[in-house]
Amino acid sequence: MSSSMINTQPRLSHEFDVGSVRQDFPILNTSVHHQKLVYLDNAATTQKPQAVLDALTHYYQHDNANVHRGVHALSERATQAFEAARETVRHFIGARHAQEIIFVRSTTEAINLVAGSFARPRLKPDDEILITEMEHHSNIVPWQLVCQQTGACLKVAPMDDQGILQMHEFEKQIGPRTRLVALTHVSNALGSINPLQEIIHLAKSRGAVVLIDGAQAVAHLPVNVSQLNCDFYAFSGHKLYGPTGTGVLYGRAELLESMPPWQGGGDMIRSVTFEHTEYNDIPYKFEAGTPDIAGVIGLAAAIRYLENLGLGPIHAHEQTLLHYATERLSNLPGLRIIGQSPQKSSLISFVMDGVHPHDIGTILDGEGIAIRTGHHCAMPIMDHFKVPATARASFALYNTTEEIDALVSGLNHVTQWFGK
Ligand code: ALA
Repeated sequence: MSSSMINTQPRLSHEFDVGSVRQDFPILNTSVHHQKLVYLDNAATTQKPQAVLDALTHYYQHDNANVHRGVHALSERATQAFEAARETVRHFIGARHAQEIIFVRSTTEAINLVAGSFARPRLKPDDEILITEMEHHSNIVPWQLVCQQTGACLKVAPMDDQGILQMHEFEKQIGPRTRLVALTHVSNALGSINPLQEIIHLAKSRGAVVLIDGAQAVAHLPVNVSQLNCDFYAFSGHKLYGPTGTGVLYGRAELLESMPPWQGGGDMIRSVTFEHTEYNDIPYKFEAGTPDIAGVIGLAAAIRYLENLGLGPIHAHEQTLLHYATERLSNLPGLRIIGQSPQKSSLISFVMDGVHPHDIGTILDGEGIAIRTGHHCAMPIMDHFKVPATARASFALYNTTEEIDALVSGLNHVTQWFGK
C-alpha cells in the first residue's frame, strides 16, 4: 500500500499541541443534541484520526484482495501491507519477532485463544490460575471455563479500598500449583496501573506463565513486552485509535510453537488430507480464515499516528487531564471517586449521593457529554465497592481541560436536577 494518504511526517515540536491533534479527528466536530460533542468515553472506544480513515479507504479503493493467497498484484500488495502491519505492531510493543504477533478480533478473543490453546490442554485438576479482583469479565470468564473443563482452581488476589492490588496477598497466592497468572495492566473500571515488572518477576520466579490484559494500557503508556518479560500480552485496536474488530495477541515464540491451533480453517495449514493435517508456522497457525485485512492496516496507521505524537507526551498530557479532573470532581459535594490509586491511568469512576449513574449519564448526554455508566464488565469491582454501577469519564489524547470544565458544569446540573 502506498503511504501517500497517511500523514507520517513527524511533528517538529515536542510540545503536545492538543488543538492541532483535535483537527486530526473529524468526529470531534460533531454536535450532539445541538451541543458540541464532549467525548469522554475513551476507555470504551477511542475515536479515529483521519490517517486511520484514509488508510481504510485507500486499502478498499486501491489494494483490496485476500492475503497470502494470490500471485496477482492486488493480493501481493494486500499481503505486503498486512505483514508490514505485523512489523509495525512488533516494533510498537517491543516484541523480538514478528511471528510473535497474532492478529485477532479483540482482547477478549486473544485471552480466549490462550485459554483454549494454552491452558485447557495443559491444566490438570488442582492446578491453579491466579487472577486479581480488578479484572474485566473477559479476564475472568475464560479462566472459569478452563477450570470447569480441567478441574483447575481459580484464585483471586484482592485489592484494597483504593483499588490497589495487595501485593503481599498476591505473593501469598502464588503457590507451587500456580500455572498461570492473568491480570490487567490497567483497570478499566478504576484506572489503577498494576506494578507489572514486580508482578511478572514474582510470578515467573515461581514458574508461572503470565498473561497481561493490555486493553486499557497500550494507548496511554509505553509498553515493551521484552522488558516486561511477560509470556502473553493482549490488546484491542479500537481502544488504540484503530478500527473495531481488530486485536493483537503477543505470545512468546516457544510457547506459541508448543500450543495446538485454536481454530481450524484456511491459512493455518501447510497440507491437508482426510487422514492428516500439517499445521502452518506461527503466527499463521493461529490465524484461520480471512482476517480483517483492512482493519489490521488501519491499526498500523493508528500506531504510526501515536508513535508520531509519542507515547511519552501523550501520557504526560493525559496525566495533566487526570489530575485536573480529579481535583475538580473531588470538590463537588456528594461525589465519591471510586479508585484512588496513586498510579492511575486517565479515567475517573465515580458515584453521586442519591443519583443513579444512568441518570448522570442521561443528563450529561443531553449536554453533549458522553461518558459510560454501568458495571463496566467488571461486576466483582462493583461488589468490592458495594455499588451497583459507576459513572466513568475516561480521557484520551484529544481531550482538553475545557471539556473537563464542561463535565463539571454538567455534574452541577445533575445535582440541581435532583434538588440537592
Ligand atoms: N471494556 C470496555 C470498557 O471498559 C468496553 O468500557
